[in-house]
Amino acid sequence: MARHDVSRPRPLISFYGDLVKVAGKTTRIGGGADSAGTEGRGGGRQGGAKAAAERDHETQAVRDRALAAMDRAYAPYSKFYVGAALLGTDGSITEACNVENAAFPAGTCAERAALASAIARGVRTFRLLAIATSAGEPTPPCGMCRQALIEFCPELEIVSVTRSGKGTRFRLSELLPNAFSPRSLDRSTD
Ligand code: THU
Repeated sequence: MARHDVSRPRPLISFYGDLVKVAGKTTRIGGGADSAGTEGRGGGRQGGAKAAAERDHETQAVRDRALAAMDRAYAPYSKFYVGAALLGTDGSITEACNVENAAFPAGTCAERAALASAIARGVRTFRLLAIATSAGEPTPPCGMCRQALIEFCPELEIVSVTRSGKGTRFRLSELLPNAFSPRSLDRSTD
């Protein structure tokens, strides 16, 4: 994918398995350069090899939950299966899948379903979203899901993976720049 192709979202990092490529250099996923700036457990990201290894492990767990959720997707119409898993700043993981309907617009995306479920369990701040799809290449979240997610976590880090292990990273603020936010609702006149 061309790096400056404005017609497409620009991935921060591409990775295969646990190895990620950051600006041409291969490194481990979650290894620092890809920090989304979101708060970690205990307040802030830690440095060091141990912390990086813990983040690798955590990322893998979130990705696995998204892949498992994808296998439960109800998508008989599009046959496009999606799983999404959100890692909360409290360490919780909440996953969901897309659920389609014979009345097509009544269907829901995996990402918004995961978000709604996390909110319902009291988790409102997130460190990572993993998306798993049945596509051949990793896909970004749809526009409506970007808007829904940005309400809670503008700098959310997103990992999108395929069944075969291909993956791409995105940052939500890059996927949806100049987003309409709660502050946009400010009714005071200028
Ligand atoms: N879908 C998602 O679950 N998430 C996205 O970000 C894009 C699309 C679902 C909706 C529908 O069930 C199927 O994928 C095809 O669009």
